[in-house]
Amino acid sequence: MKQIKKAVFPVAGMGTRFLPATKANPKEMLPVVDKPLIQYAAEEAVAAGVDTLIFVTGRNKRSIEDHFDTAYEMERELEAKGKEKMLAVLRDILPDHVNCVFIRQSQALGLGHAVLCAKPVVNNEPFAVILADDLINFSDQACLSQMVDVFNYQHCSILGTEPVPKEDVSSYGIVAGHEVKPGLMEVSGIVEKPPVAEAPSNIAVVGRYILTPRIFHLLENTPRGAGNEIQLTDAIAELLSEQRVLSYNFEGRRFDCGSKLGYLKAQVEFALAHDEVGEEFADYLVELNSRMGGKVVPIAKNAKI
Ligand code: G1P
Repeated sequence: MKQIKKAVFPVAGMGTRFLPATKANPKEMLPVVDKPLIQYAAEEAVAAGVDTLIFVTGRNKRSIEDHFDTAYEMERELEAKGKEKMLAVLRDILPDHVNCVFIRQSQALGLGHAVLCAKPVVNNEPFAVILADDLINFSDQACLSQMVDVFNYQHCSILGTEPVPKEDVSSYGIVAGHEVKPGLMEVSGIVEKPPVAEAPSNIAVVGRYILTPRIFHLLENTPRGAGNEIQLTDAIAELLSEQRVLSYNFEGRRFDCGSKLGYLKAQVEFALAHDEVGEEFADYLVELNSRMGGKVVPIAKNAKI
């Protein structure tokens, strides 16, 4: 079985939940502290051994291409000013051995269609898919790297999953199956965004997948599903009748940066863990808490702060 060397990043979505911030800027470029979401996703892929990053882009996504390109003018300016530290930050966005490929998804037909757009570059290899708005924090090993370890041992498609509160199942692809080891499940069914009463479990697919190339053939024949879109989940449901698929409850903490609340939580926790601002930010939160009488509460709309 081949190694996982390619990762697909579907980034053509409109990001309407973050309007007006995403009117002219892609949601994947929203920063968490000082790094855009897409960079965290790219770093996670590289840490898992990926050397080809395939971005499936759409309208208004030019800044993602620019972000992973050399910024000559900025580099020259920083060089001239002797700002070595900042220069290194600019140059270290991706290691030299990593290549970026950009494919345009000209129609927004859904996640399954976006993944299918990557077929000419992925070809006949197993590959990863990362959804950048699921930001995963980790202490030892990043989520995709954990999944690659499982793949190297099990040689089949692996879905990154986590248990979610029952009332949230209708926001996710939900899997059914039986546990083969703690946290590892042989998947027997998968359904996209089921109503709570119909969900086969509370094990939700998060934005991390390792898929065999057979998925492309199935995606080519997948009709529109939930939300009138070509769903990756529906093609995975078909894959189940042909190949073994496992779900893996990763270790780490996921922030749903596709929602405002999840994004704000990520800001707070990544800020607290940040080398430069972590300590002062922690002091600030303690001070804020005490200023509010020990209980941080929402501030009235017109209050002076
Ligand atoms: C997509 C997938 C869904 C998955 C989710 C994870 O949904 O279709 O199966 O559980 O990502 O974030 P979206 O959140 O893009 O609607």
